[in-house]
Order: sequence, then structure tokens, then C-alpha cells
Amino acid sequence: MTNLATPYRTHTCGALRGDDAGGDARLAGWVHRRRDHGQLIFLDLRDRHGITQVVIDATEAPDAHAAAMRCRSEFVVMVAGSVVRRLPGMENAKLPTGEIELRARELTVLSEAKTPPFYINEPDAPVDESVRLQYRYLDIRREPMLRRLLLRSRLVEEIRLAHHANGFVEVETPILIKSTPEGARDFIVPSRLQPGSVYALPQSPQQLKQLLMVAGMDRYFQIARCFRDEDLRGDRQPEFTQLDLEMSFVTEETVMGFVEEMAIEVSLAVTPERPLLQVPFPRFTYAEAQERFGSDKPDLRFGMELVDLAPALVDAAGTPASGFRVFDETLAGGGRVKGIAVPGMGDASRARIDELTEAAKRFGARGLVTLGVTGHGIHGPAVKFLGDERAADVAARCGAVEGDLVAIVADRPGVVADVLGRLRAELGTRLGLADPTVLAYCWVNRFPMYEWDSERNGWHATHNPFSGVVPEDEPLLVTASGDPERPSQDDPAGRARAMQYDLVLNGWELGGGSVRIHRRALLERSFALQGHTFASMQEKFGGMLEAFEYGAPPHGGIAIGIDRWAALMADQATIREVMAFPKTSSGMDLMLDAPSAPDPGQYAELGLRYVGPADRA
Ligand code: AMO
Repeated sequence: MTNLATPYRTHTCGALRGDDAGGDARLAGWVHRRRDHGQLIFLDLRDRHGITQVVIDATEAPDAHAAAMRCRSEFVVMVAGSVVRRLPGMENAKLPTGEIELRARELTVLSEAKTPPFYINEPDAPVDESVRLQYRYLDIRREPMLRRLLLRSRLVEEIRLAHHANGFVEVETPILIKSTPEGARDFIVPSRLQPGSVYALPQSPQQLKQLLMVAGMDRYFQIARCFRDEDLRGDRQPEFTQLDLEMSFVTEETVMGFVEEMAIEVSLAVTPERPLLQVPFPRFTYAEAQERFGSDKPDLRFGMELVDLAPALVDAAGTPASGFRVFDETLAGGGRVKGIAVPGMGDASRARIDELTEAAKRFGARGLVTLGVTGHGIHGPAVKFLGDERAADVAARCGAVEGDLVAIVADRPGVVADVLGRLRAELGTRLGLADPTVLAYCWVNRFPMYEWDSERNGWHATHNPFSGVVPEDEPLLVTASGDPERPSQDDPAGRARAMQYDLVLNGWELGGGSVRIHRRALLERSFALQGHTFASMQEKFGGMLEAFEYGAPPHGGIAIGIDRWAALMADQATIREVMAFPKTSSGMDLMLDAPSAPDPGQYAELGLRYVGPADRA
């Protein structure tokens, strides 16, 4: 039984009910609203548990009335009095405490408050986000932020319960560590005791959790704080939280199976009102996700799948013969022509189509071909080349019906997938195609192990440098040249697929993980392919490579972004809305005014000197 009573209160502001009438109570909280009716003053008293109406009658309690006269919004007060039932017809059905009111005998002002920069009691009033961030402690007093932080707390609570019930041990790993590459820059912390050396803050606890597997922990999890110095977006913060887990003696199926069950259980417990679109979660290989959705994080709440149009554009011998030069040349050159059917845009104005074309160009296409499907046939500049029949075939293949617009991109395969995938996602949001109440989870797996980096002229890990290779593709790694001095784009390792799986929710990457390489020789081979010399492997991963010589169990895991999960559960467009104290897009904490210049003494102690911006150093 929770007991929230303290010397300042017998009940919280959300606790009193009709049954409490006739008794005494003492409450403490913030003045949410004050209504002065002369002899009677009404205060709505608020804490995070609720609101209770307090009545102060000058004739019954003159001192309390005088104190209440001084009260303004957001004063902190303590009130003692008797709980009385409201008169019939005066109940407030919107408040759980709405059957009663507290008739004050005493009222003490515990703390005065300046007029806040925005109304706390008007939660829907728009307030500039920078003001909300500067005064976050006031923003959190407002109902929407409070509700989201409570949801987040419930989420973490349910996550912990599910893990403890499944034999996981919660272990904290250190924050001052060595670089753990996850594709971003490190935040570094200079060491005073080891002059000239730095710690790196963890981009993730990846190596540590793998070492915990070598240590025999069997099943580990952590609500882990991670730090990544990267460009910020709505779904990215420099400091964020992962549900990080790792399991020993597992296959991909074991990890995905546990995570799926846990995600279902947690979702149903935290947001029981939100239906899950599909259980078990659909699974797509990376190749299939690219082919059908042009994305490795498809939003499954709407269709608009990408359709290959080549069969409609070639003759019986398979030669491109559509009559439309852009299509024919693209196909002849090894490119692809694919389309999507956009619902309800069949009679879009020239300006809207131009806007769509501009978006496609921004995403990397040379242009966009559109066909409008109306009651009078198919319209669009390409129809005169394709002919009515072929144009109708193209539209039908895309599944377009009357009123739809077919949007087609012809280009290199990667460009086609990317542009149509991004158009699909943007249109899905813009046209309101996605049901905001539904949670649509899916898995994407079988990612390529490595990606060719044309800037560096070498391979890097597509996801995680420690990911294992799909068993049937292991020979591709073993036969690979793997010479870090001479990486080749034709290396067979480029075709190897990783035992990597991403968990996707409503079009966001929620989490990613893999079954790892647990044999030192294969890990060294993989690192070599990723461009590491023996010396750089030792320097970066020496500790881990050595640990693998002392008996490393087969293991795998995943990390799920808690901020993203909470944001999606709360149907928010940015993770800032579910973080108590997030940073701005330029990495600033407006409330604490961080980062700020260090104290000169701190520099001296660390043996550092600021020499100006990096390009002048
Ligand atoms: P990954 O880098 O995919 O994997 O991260 C896992 C999840 O963490 C969340 N995330 C972020 N959330 C907010 N802001 C950020 N800057 C940010 N970066 C990542 C995402 C993402 O899916 N060590 C591996 C996991 C593993 O293999 O076990 C890792 O960190 O939701």
C-alpha cells in the first residue's frame, strides 16, 4: 500500500473521494487557479497526482482567507480543513476528486511564485519550444509533459519486470570508458590523473556487455545512458537512453523471440488502448524491405508499396520498348523503373505535382513521372509516349484506382528505392494515411555485413562492427582478401549478410542488434575487412580480442531506444517530448546554459589550453 502522507499532507491532491467526506485532511500543492468571490475564495490545488478544490470562507477562517487573498497562481501552499461533499449539481465529473471540496481552516503559504512565462493551467496553449526548454521545470508541471514522463516511467518499469521474469541481471557499466564505435563522434573527457589522456563516453555499452557474456553473466540488461556527438534530429539526441541487452548461447531466433514477446507484453501493459497491427511481428529481409518499401524502416500502417514496372515496359523478348525514352534508357542501362499509387491525388493541381517533383529531386531523383487516374482515363505528360493501354497497365500494376496518382521514378536501383521510399513515408504522414492509434512493429534482418565507403575507399560495417555473419555466407569472409592496405569493391565479403536484426515501429528504427562473432580469428578477419591493421585492432579492441581467448560463449543481443519507444507510444513527433531535460538541435541545454566555457583553473589542472576553433588549431 503506497503511503504518500508526510508532515505536510495527509493526502495528495488527487486522493480524496466522496467517502472521505466528514473527515479532516491536510493538502499541499501549487495554486492551479484562484477565483475570488469576495467572502469566498476558491483555490484549485494541484500536485502531480491531481487537483482538489479548496474553499476558504472569510467568516469561518479569517486568517486562512487573508492568506488566500495573497495567493497567486503557482504559489505553494499547505491547507488543512474538513472534507465536505459538494452540493448536488456542483460536482465536477471531470475531476476524480470532483465529488468533494476541502473547507479550509488553516492556509500556509510555503513558497511564493513569480508570474510564470506561460500558463501552467492552459496545457494546450502553444508555447515556443525554446521557452519551454528554458523553463522546463514549469513545462513539466503542465499536464501533457507530466503525462508523457509518467508513461516513460511505466515503460521502464514494465521493461524491468519483463527482464527480471526472464532471468536477466541488471548490470551497470561505466560511463568513463574508451571509444566504442557506433558510427558517431565520441564525447571525450580529459583525465587529470593521466595527463594528456582522455576517456570517451560510451556511444553504447557494446563491448562491455559482450565482456559480461565472456564473464558468464548469461543474460544482461541495462537501462543505459549513451552519448553520441552527431547531427541532431527529431529522433536523435546527443545523450539518450537504450534498453541494452545481451544473451549467451543464443541464435537470432532466441533473441528476436524474447524481444518480440517482451515488446508485446510491455506495449499491452503501457498503452493497452493502442492495438498492435500484427502479431507475430512481420519480418522482412533487408532486400525485401528495400524492394517493397524503399526503406529499412517501413511504416506498415499504410500500403503504397513500390511496384516494379519493368514487366509493363518491355516487349516479349524482354527488350525495353515502352516508347518513353527515359524509361527505356534506364532499363537498358541496368536501372529500375518503379512506381507507387498515391491515394486521392489523381486530380492534384499542377502546383502540387511540381511540389512532389521537387521533393523527389531533393531526395536525389532526376525527375518524377506522374500519371493521374481519373474517371476519364489516365492523364499525364508521359501518356502520349506510353499510349493509353500501357499507361493503364502501369497504373493497374501499382494498384491505382480512380482518384489515385501514380508516381514513378526511373534511375539506378538504389536511387529509385531511396526516393520512392522517402516519398512514401512523407506522403503517408502528409496525407494522414497512418492510423495514429496503431502500433505497427516489424523486423528487418539479413542486412549486408559491409558497405562500400567511396570516400574512404574501403568497407565499413553496415551496422555493428561486431556482428556475426549468416552461417552460409561465412565462406565469403574467409576467402576474402581482407588486406586492409588494398580493399577492393569486388571483394566477395561485400555480398556477405549479417546476423543483424532491426526492430521497427511505425516507420522508426526502434532498435538494432545482432548475434556476434565470438571467435577471435573471425573477428580479426572482419576487422581487417573494415580497414583495421593489426596494430589498430590492438589499439581499439585489444581488451576484447584478448577476452575472446578465455572462452567466449556464442552470444547476441540488441539495443532499443527508450526515448524513441516512449515517443512513439505517446504519439509524439520528436523524442524531446518524452525527455525531461533534452537539448536543442544545436546541443544546448537552455535551462542550465550548457555547454559553457570551463573555469580557467579547470584547464590548468588538466594541462589544456584553448587554441580556438578546430580549423585554426
Ligand atoms: P544502434 O546504434 O542501432 O545499436 O542503437 C540502438 C538504438 O538506439 C537508439 N538511438 C538513439 N536514440 C536517440 N538518439 C540517438 N542519437 C540515438 N542513436 C541510437 C535507436 C537505435 O535503434 N550497440 C548496438 C546495439 C546492439 O547491437 O546490441 C547499438 O547501439 O532507437
